[in-house]
This record gives sequence, structure tokens and C-alpha cells, in this order.
Amino acid sequence: MQNKLLTAKATLPGYDRTKLVPRIVHLGFGAFHRAHQGVYTDILATEHHSDWGYCEINLIGGEQQIADLKQQDNLYTVAEMSADAWTARVVGVVTNALHAEVDGLESVLNALCEPQVAIVSLTITEKGYCHSPATGQLMLDHPMIAADLQNRKQPKTALGVVVEALARRKAAGLPAFTVMSCDNMPENGHVVRNVVTAYARAIDAELAAWIEQNVTFPSTMVDRIVPAVTADTLDKIEQLTGVRDPAGVACEPFRQWVIEDNFVAGRPEWEKAGAELVADVIPFEEMKLRMLNGSHSFLAYLGYLAGYQHINDCMGDENYRLTARALMLQEQAPTLKVQGVDLERYADLLIDRYCNPALRHRTWQIAMDGSQKLPQRMLDSICWHLAHNSGFELLALGVAGWMRYVGGVDEQGHAIEISDPLLPVIQKVVQESDEGENRVQALLDIDAIFGNQLPHIELFTKRVKEAYLLLLAEGAKATVAKYAAKL
Ligand SMILES: NC(=O)c1ccc[n+]([C@@H]2O[C@H](COP(=O)([O-])OP(=O)(O)OC[C@H]3O[C@@H](n4cnc5c(N)ncnc54)[C@H](O)[C@@H]3O)[C@@H](O)[C@H]2O)c1
Repeated sequence: MQNKLLTAKATLPGYDRTKLVPRIVHLGFGAFHRAHQGVYTDILATEHHSDWGYCEINLIGGEQQIADLKQQDNLYTVAEMSADAWTARVVGVVTNALHAEVDGLESVLNALCEPQVAIVSLTITEKGYCHSPATGQLMLDHPMIAADLQNRKQPKTALGVVVEALARRKAAGLPAFTVMSCDNMPENGHVVRNVVTAYARAIDAELAAWIEQNVTFPSTMVDRIVPAVTADTLDKIEQLTGVRDPAGVACEPFRQWVIEDNFVAGRPEWEKAGAELVADVIPFEEMKLRMLNGSHSFLAYLGYLAGYQHINDCMGDENYRLTARALMLQEQAPTLKVQGVDLERYADLLIDRYCNPALRHRTWQIAMDGSQKLPQRMLDSICWHLAHNSGFELLALGVAGWMRYVGGVDEQGHAIEISDPLLPVIQKVVQESDEGENRVQALLDIDAIFGNQLPHIELFTKRVKEAYLLLLAEGAKATVAKYAAKL
């Protein structure tokens, strides 16, 4: 019987899927990977006869996504939504899907040890790297890392799995693979190299040296807004294509992928599908992390507090739109090294993308895991301004917005459901500090987020406290309006 997805009103995989070779193993079959790397690779297969296929793996969470994918012969739908039109494609480049807890760790390790595997890519969220966001170093005392180091043959973390697979490949005389992070972190290639080699060193110095010599860790800048999938998203996709797809995902039409061209065992010709292969990704990453992700976090905290559920709701408030654009151009753009990009145009394009009413990107979703995100999205830029004697009022307002948010009660007195790997630490600080300046100082003292220098810089603490007290006294909408009036 024909797979139901192959009857969808969508662009279908018009290539011979039996010819695909799973040379890429991807860890983290979440919404983003499906709509980003999956689509680039599918375009290559459709338009350029590429035979690069994926083995998709989830290690922690996401059991249902893998089960749904298997149910439909590894096909899934990606819908692109703009204000006036939706289009869909069925992605066919996945050849195999596994979940460590359902299929067993051994099948996961076997997949990584197949001789043809050339790339292991990751979208496991920032917290999946088990590093200190403030320093970028592996946290050897992270409970899951400590457990994996005790039991290295039965790892549960992505790092433990990658290092065990590399150890087995080394022992079997197989070549190494490229490890490519596609998560939103500055110098994500350096971060993953640091944590993988630090973890390997804690096990076996010779293995660590082999990894350093044989594995490459290209950095990437990834961009496409992919909101978390809701029942409403799946209904809309079904209306569009005529087929119910529980593994479906919807995203904005825009996509961008800048990749450091440093692969040890070959790579797909992603440039033919629109990716940019460059020698140095860092300037592009910084641009995206600070201008896009930084303004997203600003809008997420201050928008959530004001009762705006989605980014496009924030854009309906002129003061939010003006301050977000000013944050990008006045406080993030000056900190960047990127050459040859018209940053004003980039900012205007971002604002247009945020206004897309079809996206419904929840402020709550972007607000998640703030402890992992603040350093690269806001604090690095604040350090730059402190060193250059320039203003950073809006960045300080963003940090204060995060502090009000993690206080756990919104402006209507409702509890906020905070999701963050440092939640126990944050909650303890909140409970043990008095509301007001004391709370700000206590939160600034969490050195896994703020490090040990920034909290002692008086101008920084002063700006954050001013913004926090205004938020407390007048609420987010009025505070944002006051900052907008000063622009
Ligand atoms: N959604 C977007 O718009 C977007 C845009 C650019 C970049 N990204 C990057 O992609 C990441 C994933 O986003 P998403 O929208 O796919 O989220 P998602 O919640 O849909 O998927 C998260 C994935 O990470 C895995 N995961 C979570 N914690 C893990 C851990 N500790 N160890 C191993 N795996 C773990 C889950 O199994 C799941 O596959 C983001 O954190 C970000 O770094 C997302």
C-alpha cells in the first residue's frame, strides 16, 4: 500500500529513496532539525541527485517523534507559512530512526559505528552540551556527565555517546567522523570540541589525542524560525496537504545556514541548496546570536510579562518594535565584526520576520533555558560596551526582564511555568532574597550565568537595577514605552 504521505498535496521526494546512504547520523530529531538541515538535504536529493541520507536519533526525550517517523517510513512534512500562503514538502532523506531508550543504546552506537558514517550532527539544545554557559567548559560535576564517566560503556548524554562511538571506531580501525553542532551557541564548533575532548580526556588521554587529530568540529550559523509544534499546527498542515502527519512541522519561509568548511570525511554539497560554506563562521554566528536571538530574548521576557503570548503580538506594540530594532542596531550591531552585511537591512528583515502572523512563535518557548542563553545573547555585548564606554540600556533592560520573569509571577499575579536547567539554583536565590535591589544582586551572583567579573562592575549592576525597579513599579509595557521614548 502506498505511504499516505506520498499522496499529500506537497512537493514530494521525486528521487529513489532506496539509493540513499545514511552517511549522516543526527542527534536531536526536534522541530528545528526537521525544518532546517532536513530540508537542505532534501532539496539536494530532489534537485541535484545527492544520495546523502540521515539516520535520526533521539537520546533524551522525543520518543513520540521517533515512533511517529518510523510509522510512516521515515517521511515527514515541512510546511512554510507566510501571512498569505502556505506551501508544503514531504522530506524523504531519512532512512532510519532510533531512540536510545526504546531501541537500546547498542543500536544507537552501532548506527554511529557504521563505516560509511561521515558526519554526526547535533541539535540537542544548549543544555545538551553540559557546559558552563559562562565559561564554555565541560561541567565534570554535571550529574549526567559524572554518571557517564562512571559508566562510560553505557552513556546517556550526547557527549558520552559520541565519545564511546569514536572509541569503538578507533579500536576497529575505522575512520573518524565530523561532529557538527547546529545549536544556537557562539562558536558552537569550539564548544562541542571543548566538551568532547574534555570528556574523552577524563576517560583516556590517548583517545582524546586521537580525537583531536582525527575529528573536526565545524562551527555553523543556523537560522530559521521554527515554533514548537501544536495541535493547531498539525490541523493546518492537514488542511493544506490532505494528510495528517504527527511528525509534521511548520516554519517561516526564510532559511539560512553558514557552515565552516572543515569536514574530515566529506559532506553533501549543501551550497547547492543555498548554504554558505565559509572559512570563518564566527562573525555570522555573532551577528545572528546577538541581533536575532538577543532581540528574541528581549521580546520574550518583556513580552511575556506584558501578556503578549507571541512574538508577532509584541510587534503589534509600537514601543516593543522600536526598542527591539534599536537593541539590534544601537547595542548589538556595534559589537559585531561581520563584513559585507548591511546590518540595517538585516534588522529590518528580522522585524518583518517577527511580524509574520502565521508563525505564532510563543514568547514562553523563547524564554526557556534563559540561563544558557543570556551570556551569548546579551552579556557578551554588555562586556563589549563596558570596554568601549558606550551605552547598553536596552540590554540591561533585557537582563532585568529575565530577572522579573524568573521571579516566577507575572504582572497579573499568575505563576510563570519556568523551564531552565538551573531552575533549582534560580528558585533558591529568588526565595532567599527580598524583592527589589537585593533580588537583582542575588541573581547576579549566580556565576554559572554572570561569571565572576560582571557582577562587580558598578555601571552594569546600576543599569540592571534601574531597569528592574522600573519594571517592578510600572510593569513591562510602561517601562518599554519609557525606554522607547528616550530613543
Ligand atoms: N526552533 C528554532 O526556531 C531554532 C532556530 C535556530 C536554532 N535552533 C536550535 O535548535 C535547538 C533545538 O530546537 P528545537 O526547536 O528543535 O527544539 P525541540 O524541543 O523540538 O527539540 C529538542 C531536541 O533536543 C533533544 N534534547 C533535549 N535535551 C537533550 C539533552 N540533554 N541531550 C540530548 N538531546 C537532548 C530532544 O531529544 C529533541 O530532539 C535549539 O535549542 C537551538 O539551539 C532552534
